[in-house]
Amino acid sequence: MNNKFTTASFLESKKQGRKISMLTAYDYPTAKILDEAGVDSILVGDSLGMVVLGYEDTTRVTMDDMVHHTKAVVRGAKRAMVVADMPFLSYHTGKNDSVKNAGRLVSEGGCKAIKLEGGEDIIEDVKAIISAGIPVVGHLGYTPQSINVFGGHKAQGKTIATAKKIYRDALLLQKAGAFSVVLECVPYKLAAFISKRLDIPTIGIGSGPDCDGQVLVIQDVTGMFRDFTPKHVKKYTDMGAAIDMAAKSYIEEVQNGVFPTEKNSFTVDDSIIEELEKIKFDI
Ligand code: KIV
Repeated sequence: MNNKFTTASFLESKKQGRKISMLTAYDYPTAKILDEAGVDSILVGDSLGMVVLGYEDTTRVTMDDMVHHTKAVVRGAKRAMVVADMPFLSYHTGKNDSVKNAGRLVSEGGCKAIKLEGGEDIIEDVKAIISAGIPVVGHLGYTPQSINVFGGHKAQGKTIATAKKIYRDALLLQKAGAFSVVLECVPYKLAAFISKRLDIPTIGIGSGPDCDGQVLVIQDVTGMFRDFTPKHVKKYTDMGAAIDMAAKSYIEEVQNGVFPTEKNSFTVDDSIIEELEKIKFDI
């Protein structure tokens, strides 16, 4: 598929049983690599707070942070559809604020859709954002902005009450017009049950193989984030180790005078240096 991936492509992929691939990115070079590798969608996740900005969780991420990083990602993505996260408290202070903040991610950031966490509690915000012409991705299950409510990073939907809530919220989001919903750390049989009953695609993270697509955080996939590794992560390469080795070699070569050589330096005619040697500045 060489054409731009759009909201229609999300829905078409589900119809065709073609799995959707999504990865996060927060900067131009990573977005460009992922786009050229053929990923369908790039999420500028508010995981940015932890894996790029070094905060403990996502609650410190601001609208300005999200707009800034979305701009960079959009410059690198030609085919992949860029979705940007609405950060903590950017959609909880009234529909007008929600639409204004979602609008900033599109008009300033340049993304094609936004993602927000929650179901019934934010459904009026979802409807208002969609009415303003901004496509919405939902996010249910473990919703990281509510870490202080959950009391830590925990799978959700293990009781009948919580499973029912996640299922109902997914149906509500679909009815409100969301074109996809992320299911994070939902037991895989519940994720399969929901995926089968929705017309819109589910994108799983830690929610098993039966979701209609998958998303992972690029810093986890590449071994760049080393503070902790969630259970659902698969590390496909270890860039952290590669950077560590490169940095150690660089330090050693600088200290031993091995780097730089003439090959890494610029030349000037000897006559210029000879001329300089004759000058005496009165300083
Ligand atoms: O912020 C993020 O990266 C996310 C994904 C993990 C789904 O929301």
